[in-house]
Amino acid sequence: MSEPTLITESAAAEVVAAALRAVAAASNSAELRVARAEFTGESSALARMNASLKAAPNDQKAALGKIVGQARGQVNTAIAAREAELVEAEETARLASEAVDVTAVATRWRPGARHPLTLLMEQMGDIFIGMGWEIAEGPELENEWFNFDAMNFDEDHPARAMQDTFFVDPVDSHLLLRTHTSPVQIRSLLDRPLPVYVVAPGRVYRTDELDATHTPVFHQIEGLAIDRGLTMANLRGTLEHLARAMFGTDAKIRLRPNYFPFTEPSAEMDVWQPNAKGGARWVEWGGCGMVNSNVLLAAGIDPNEYQGFAFGMGIERTLQFRNDMNDMRDMVEGDIRFSQQFGLVV
Ligand code: PHE
Repeated sequence: MSEPTLITESAAAEVVAAALRAVAAASNSAELRVARAEFTGESSALARMNASLKAAPNDQKAALGKIVGQARGQVNTAIAAREAELVEAEETARLASEAVDVTAVATRWRPGARHPLTLLMEQMGDIFIGMGWEIAEGPELENEWFNFDAMNFDEDHPARAMQDTFFVDPVDSHLLLRTHTSPVQIRSLLDRPLPVYVVAPGRVYRTDELDATHTPVFHQIEGLAIDRGLTMANLRGTLEHLARAMFGTDAKIRLRPNYFPFTEPSAEMDVWQPNAKGGARWVEWGGCGMVNSNVLLAAGIDPNEYQGFAFGMGIERTLQFRNDMNDMRDMVEGDIRFSQQFGLVV
């Protein structure tokens, strides 16, 4: 053991002053622990003074003990007070750092919306699925033969001319962006066993400028039925069923004579739209007719055995008059708000 420490009031006061300074300077509980060890631990000055009491003369023990006791009391009180302060400050800081701002604006993924054209194509497709028809597909980058030749277009038919058709370089590749979904007719006939009942919704291209009523990329849905003994009455009944499924039971169909190379006879089809905004009306809807025997021959089918009908209509146009939309550009611009207003059902 070291020499007994001399106990004096001034020595004790000095130690207390040093201790109070260290305690006040402790800025967190770890620093306070260090100060506590230094000023109250076994080897601290006050502990040594306390130990030296034993050796003090009996008549001074009480007075010296009081000096040491008071000094230790002051230091312990200061440490306890500082500890309470630090614990509270640390608790406050912890709570602040863990705080959740329940008023903060939530950042959430907004649900997207499917495009009304997609929904409309699916809805029309479903009506045919319900009658046992199938969905057929063909490429948008198409061979000229499928788009025109097999569909019985003359070599010099005006629709082949540059102002309607996007031909693809090099020209002698005979590739183009299909101008209608009708090439899917011939593809379906080549792909499938007879009888064939298919609809082919899809994208088509024509060299039109984008304006309120035209878009160079648009959509059609093609229908084709080839079986034994089909007549114009089957065509009419099928279209009328489609019209009623889409426009209500009061809807009906009107056919006006027309010309398409791939149908004979051909007709322009109008639909009676009973629920039109502004009153019931006839609207031009698409083209149709009995499949031309030259198309059947191009697919290797004997026209004496099999006959059928075909039809095609524009999806954009259908959406326009069905939902009273004035500007085609809204459909192509891709503003999510346009799609959202249709919800999940067109
Ligand atoms: N393909 C024609 C068009 O784009 C529509 C049509 C399809 C007409 C099938 C008759 C039969 O205008």
